[in-house]
Amino acid sequence: MARLINTRLKPQKKADLQIVKQPDVKTTKYSDINLKNWKNYGHILTSSLWLFPSRLKEHGHSNEYHGNYIPQIAQQMYERYTKKNDIVLDMFFGSGTSGIEAINMNRRCIGVELKQDLVDSVSQKFTQKELVTDVNLICADSTSQDAYEKVQARLEIMGEEKAQFLMLHPPYDDIIKFSDKKEDLSNCESTEEFYDMFEKVAKNGYELLERGRFACLIIGDSYKNSEVQPLGFECMNRMRKLGFVLKSTIVKDIQGNERGKGRTANLWRYRALAGGFSIFNHEYIFVFQKP
Ligand SMILES: C[S@@+](CC[C@H](N)C(=O)[O-])C[C@H]1O[C@@H](n2cnc3c(N)ncnc32)[C@H](O)[C@@H]1O
Repeated sequence: MARLINTRLKPQKKADLQIVKQPDVKTTKYSDINLKNWKNYGHILTSSLWLFPSRLKEHGHSNEYHGNYIPQIAQQMYERYTKKNDIVLDMFFGSGTSGIEAINMNRRCIGVELKQDLVDSVSQKFTQKELVTDVNLICADSTSQDAYEKVQARLEIMGEEKAQFLMLHPPYDDIIKFSDKKEDLSNCESTEEFYDMFEKVAKNGYELLERGRFACLIIGDSYKNSEVQPLGFECMNRMRKLGFVLKSTIVKDIQGNERGKGRTANLWRYRALAGGFSIFNHEYIFVFQKP
């Protein structure tokens, strides 16, 4: 029943109509990729190992926020799993990578972020018109019912019942502390509490996502008490328990987005050799579909 409200306003979103009217076009219901020309999409990554030597810094993106993801991930996700004009819901909006790339690629975005000062400064990255029609920013705790209701209200204003893509890029437990707020996932008393809070956000996201549509979780692991904390696998499993179907497990090299360990590199190497562990050079991108 989704999208009944504005079907007439956006006929370009109806993949079925495109197939009927244009015999040379065959798309899935969730992307504009023309499968009749599938050989023309060499730039779309279908492998499970992603290597990006550097972060894209053009087209509105910058590296000023410690902990942002590289825009190439949004580009890959949006082209493969969304259609023009679709709404991407990002429950950890941070410095707005998801929104900037939504504008660049003619998608729309709703972003939820806990820190009011960040929401205010990120708003400056968008024009007044974009903030009315294309990018909606909400300052809220994404674990809460309040955030759920605010997103629902914005969806209605934008003429949709549900979002068409969900982006989740949570703090990696307490590796980077984003604020002192008790609602902040980077400020949990234990990793178990982090998992529980993450699950609440993922549940909100699940309910706000349209059926048949996709979600992306970007996350890396951590070390605590001389032991690996498998944040990626545990959060992925929490999402599967909520009903998300796991479609891809991608390992991404972090050379392109890591702030170099610089002078401490040797120290890390010594610690690795002495402690029997490996230095993280990767993070995960999990892709799910809501059945
Ligand atoms: C890893 S960063 C996301 C960065 C973002 N993807 C970008 O590219 O800029 C995680 C963000 O989640 C925010 N955050 C933490 N707990 C939150 C919560 N309960 N609700 C909403 N946002 C939260 C943090 O303030 C931080 O900006």
